[in-house]
Amino acid sequence: MRTLAQPTWNPTDALVPVELPTPEPRPDEVRVAVKAIGVNPVDWKMRQKGPLRLAARLLGPPLPFVPGVDFAGVVDAVGARVTSLKPGDRVVGGTDFSRGQRGSYADTVIARPDQVTVLPDAVDFETAGALPVAGVTAAMAVLEFGRLEAVPADARRVLVLGASGGVGQLAVQIARNAGAQVVGVCSARNVERVRALGATRVIDYGAAGIDPLTAAAESGPYRVIVDCVGGYPAGGCRRLLGPGGRHVMVAGDSAGAFFQALVPPFSSRILLGKPTGARLAPLVQAIAEGRLRVEIAQRFPLAEAEAAHALSQSGRVVGKIVLVV
Ligand SMILES: NC(=O)c1ccc[n+]([C@@H]2O[C@H](COP(=O)([O-])OP(=O)(O)OC[C@H]3O[C@@H](n4cnc5c(N)ncnc54)[C@H](OP(=O)(O)O)[C@@H]3O)[C@@H](O)[C@H]2O)c1
Repeated sequence: MRTLAQPTWNPTDALVPVELPTPEPRPDEVRVAVKAIGVNPVDWKMRQKGPLRLAARLLGPPLPFVPGVDFAGVVDAVGARVTSLKPGDRVVGGTDFSRGQRGSYADTVIARPDQVTVLPDAVDFETAGALPVAGVTAAMAVLEFGRLEAVPADARRVLVLGASGGVGQLAVQIARNAGAQVVGVCSARNVERVRALGATRVIDYGAAGIDPLTAAAESGPYRVIVDCVGGYPAGGCRRLLGPGGRHVMVAGDSAGAFFQALVPPFSSRILLGKPTGARLAPLVQAIAEGRLRVEIAQRFPLAEAEAAHALSQSGRVVGKIVLVV
């Protein structure tokens, strides 16, 4: 199979084409011919020194390192015990290195059936491929960790910090679809875009004399605050929460975030989004029905993943980057 991989753990190594033996699925696995892959910051963070790379080194398959979680494609082989999927099924899912699986920057991935969901005909591969990590993380933040639907409709207020990025754009829509009043924080160039996603109010974090959290306080208290940026003070976020509210640190891969999660009353939480078929199914259904959309910022051929990583590292991407196989 064709992959784009980093041959060693040296962070200065470029991603290069690497041919690996095409795997046969085990009895409880499926093999997928990949058509599109969403790029997430975790893909390049795993190449750099830090907790994510350490986890991949300790729990993942041996080198070469094939990055990537998101994939959409067509099932081309199923293991003997798999009954829920068959060759030819169009699916979307996420790889899991802790199960020894290689990443999705490849023309072929192996996954278990519970890691994928079947795609409705109305959802194309590129849209689906961009969805898993960002969509599931947004849904987990708003609905699972944030428990938005546990409060009456008039208390459903959600603040999304970084509302124009991959996770943020989906968090705004998921919260709106759950009946929330959504306040989005983004830069001036994205204000209209975030409003169009369903935010009731949009705060330009770069406007003169504006402190985004002070400005957001006027529309609180919030049931859920989703921080997709990482630079906003956790204490300031907690002060904007209503009783039982949650501050979800999506960009929580820093020691600072770890300590914030220990501050009573433990309303700040670090989230690790885990794509599963069960979590993806309602999201692809919402896309098929036109209730959710995934804005794609830019497409690259798989061979140009290095350029896609450079763009993602800029921190200025509006929507999702997709690699096309
Ligand atoms: N915990 C998990 O499971 C999980 C899952 C996915 C992502 N993440 C993490 O979450 C973070 C976001 O991921 P992503 O894929 O959404 O990233 P992304 O798409 O690269 O986010 C970039 C967006 O952030 C906006 N932005 C930058 N600074 C901002 C600020 N100060 N205030 C408001 N918006 C700002 C940018 O807009 P402007 O250029 O207009 O400012 C841009 O649209 C990353 O750190 C990623 O590693 C974690």
